[in-house]
Amino acid sequence: MKITKAVIPAAGLGTRVLPATKVLPKEMMPIVDKPAIQYIIEEAAASGITDILIITNRGKEIIENHFDRCPELERNLQKSRKTHMMEAVSFASDIANLYFIRQKEAKGLGHAISCAKSFIGNEPFAVLYGDDVIISETPVCRQLINAFDKYGLCVVGAKQVPKEKIVNYGSLKVEPIEKNILKCTDMIEKPTKDKIMSLYSILGRCILTPDIFDILSKTPPGYGGEIQLTDAMKVIARQDGITVVDFEGKRYDIGSKLGIMQACVEMALIHPEIGEDFKNYLKNLNLI
Ligand code: UTP
Repeated sequence: MKITKAVIPAAGLGTRVLPATKVLPKEMMPIVDKPAIQYIIEEAAASGITDILIITNRGKEIIENHFDRCPELERNLQKSRKTHMMEAVSFASDIANLYFIRQKEAKGLGHAISCAKSFIGNEPFAVLYGDDVIISETPVCRQLINAFDKYGLCVVGAKQVPKEKIVNYGSLKVEPIEKNILKCTDMIEKPTKDKIMSLYSILGRCILTPDIFDILSKTPPGYGGEIQLTDAMKVIARQDGITVVDFEGKRYDIGSKLGIMQACVEMALIHPEIGEDFKNYLKNLNLI
């Protein structure tokens, strides 16, 4: 079945980037000249996704506003012949069909995904975490859809994380299949050192089937008192297995201060308009 729907959970509180996120959602953090979530929506659209549900909460209306048309601004840009700007502004609102729903309380990522039940219906769908920007040659979401088409199981995008950091992530029990493909048969969220299954962790992307909603409805709060998506995916992993794609691409965690700075610096260095100037600026700082 062709995957055309995606869910972007963006209702987290973003406490790791306070006070900036008190008013500005982390998903709207600018990376040079585009908010983080626009990179994610562009990735989904480039992967063949046509319909995207964004899970927000009160205080995140500016996400919806960003992807709306702005006729006044467009007219002004047209008048002053700033055509490329005008294209950039209207492109943001035309990338895909966007839908919004509110998670009324931040009860965890699993709970956020369960809010998508009626939007998804009975189809497999992609999940792109709203605070994970991934830059790659083939869009990561597409890499995962390809693996879904080939193996017919749920899919997660994963990478190995440093040993000392795995306790802050989820850990996957894996066995190799081919090249960058593995099979996951169990997983644990934020493992203590003695419970680490591997250094592979889900990083921001997955393909799920609609049976996840039934499982989520029976999933009790887990780590941190939140309904964890990994607790629900664990049931599928143990039952049928989940395909793991060790994806090609560079991931930036926009939910962390360091991740935001890494994304800004690296994207500025390759930006067609300011890349050269920014490189020279960094050189002249004589930092190293
Ligand atoms: P995170 O755990 O990174 O988000 O969730 P958070 O809760 O905002 O993080 P803190 O407060 O800095 O620790 C991963 C993704 O799931 C979404 C977040 O917006 C992010 O995109 N999420 C998380 C929800 O939509 N709802 C939730 O209740 C929790």
